[in-house]
Parts: sequence; structure tokens; C-alpha cells
Amino acid sequence: MSNLANKVALVTGGSRGIGAAIVKRLAADGAAVAFTYLSADDKANALANEIKKAGGKAIAIRANSGNVKDVENAVEETVKQLGRLDILVNNAGVAVYSPVDNAADTLPALEQLHAVNVRGVATAVRSASKYLGEGGRVINIGSNAAERMSTAGFADYSAAKAAVAAYSRGWARDLGKKGITVNTIQPGPTETDMNPDNTDFAKVVKAETALGRYAAPGEIAAVVAFLASADASYITGSTITVDGGQNA
Ligand SMILES: NC(=O)c1ccc[n+]([C@@H]2O[C@H](COP(=O)([O-])OP(=O)(O)OC[C@H]3O[C@@H](n4cnc5c(N)ncnc54)[C@H](OP(=O)(O)O)[C@@H]3O)[C@@H](O)[C@H]2O)c1
Repeated sequence: MSNLANKVALVTGGSRGIGAAIVKRLAADGAAVAFTYLSADDKANALANEIKKAGGKAIAIRANSGNVKDVENAVEETVKQLGRLDILVNNAGVAVYSPVDNAADTLPALEQLHAVNVRGVATAVRSASKYLGEGGRVINIGSNAAERMSTAGFADYSAAKAAVAAYSRGWARDLGKKGITVNTIQPGPTETDMNPDNTDFAKVVKAETALGRYAAPGEIAAVVAFLASADASYITGSTITVDGGQNA
């Protein structure tokens, strides 16, 4: 598979979970991939080495998506080390419990959610837009929680992910004239450290899906790979929900 040969991708939050599956898939499809992570040096380096051993090209960059300078630096490093930038995948995100009736305690949670899940995404797109050109791709990982919230205490998370989808539609307008597409993928329950498949909560969530199960991270990565490919050249400003029918 080499439909992304000669392309360079940057994936935020790529050391574990959905991000790691995206990194592996884009590399398998032929792209050189830079990815960021927050703190797990061992996992990040192991992933970069795994891709190199398989004949691919990958670099790990420690960068906190909640820090504007870190995000700007990650874009610059990608271009410096890999020569260009064609595909930006904004995957890094946090899920924080922050019920509104406990606002004093949960204000820091709201601020963290905004800094990482919203401002981090907007900063990466602003920085990357200097380098993306004709055929460029911005793929933002939102959540199906942007459209329907079945659990108390996650309104701030839901609103932050709704902001990602709204931003994507606006950026599709801003960047369309340069031939760059911008889309949002909204995963539903996906087996990762953020949302393990083996808890009491998972039992309830699985029952809400039409397929009765969690997604594997690779099932989200497959949709990223499609949107990154030439086959998706006329899809922009779209929101694709990949949730096993949880919101159906
Ligand atoms: N899992 C789900 O059910 C689900 C459902 C809908 C949407 N999503 C969204 O999908 C995305 C990935 O979720 P996941 O479940 O794969 O999460 P995860 O298992 O918690 O993995 C998070 C990844 O992001 C990195 N990261 C966390 N905070 C960061 C920060 N401030 N700056 C840079 N990198 C950071 C982590 O790096 P370290 O390894 O260094 O910590 C790790 O690589 C998120 O945007 C999430 O909201 C997930």
C-alpha cells in the first residue's frame, strides 16, 4: 500500500490509543509520519522504532497540545525534519469529568478541556496552514458526544467537541480556495486507555450501540486513511460519525 507515498503527516497525541493506530495506518499507507505526545517517552519511542523497523519513517515529538508554543514548534519540527506537511490529524484530546453543579471545583477541568481539545486544535491548524498546499488534508478527531450526551458530567467535553466540528466547517471555507480539505471524524466508544472496554460503564455504553461493541482504534484510523487519500478529494466541511450506531 503506498497511496500516501511522498506525503508527510503530523498526528497529535499519537503515542497511544486512536492516535497510535492512525500513525501506524498512515505509515503503512506510505506517509512519513511525525506525531506528538504528552509524557510517555517510552511508548512514543517504541512506536517510532516499530515503524522504522517495518521500513517506514516516523518521528516522535514531545509537545503539550495545551501549550501554544509546543504546538507551533511541533509543526515547525515536522517540516524541518520531514521536509513538508500534507496531512494534519488533530487527535490529542482529554476527557474530564466536570458537572456544572460543582462549578468551583471543575473550572480548571473546563479550562484544560478548552486548552487541549479546542485551542490546541485551532493552534495546530493555524500553524499548519502556512505549509499545507493543494491536496492538503486537515482531519480533526471530535466525538459523537458532540451531538448526543448520554452521561452526566461531560457537558464541557461535549461542547469542546462540538466546537471542533464547528471550527472544521469554517476552516473548510477558509482553506478550500487552496485545495485543502478539512473534515471531522466523530468516534463513538473506542477501546483505549481513555475508555477501556472492560468496565461497568462500558457495559452500559455497548448496550447503547447498534453493533453492541466498542470500536477497535484501527476502525477509526481506517476512516482517517480514507479522508487522507486522493479518493476523498471532494469531501470537505463534513462530519463523519464512526460510533457503531450509538447515536442512531
Ligand atoms: N476512546 C474513545 O472512546 C473516544 C471516543 C470519542 C472521541 N475520542 C477522542 O479521540 C482522541 C484520542 O482518544 P484516545 O481514547 O485514543 O485517548 P488516550 O488513550 O487517552 O490517548 C491519548 C493520546 O494523546 C496524547 N495526549 C494526551 N494529552 C495530550 C496533550 N495535552 N498534548 C499532546 N498529547 C496529548 C497521549 O500522550 P501520552 O501517551 O504522552 O500521554 C496519548 O498519545 C481524543 O481526542 C478523544 O477525545 C475518543
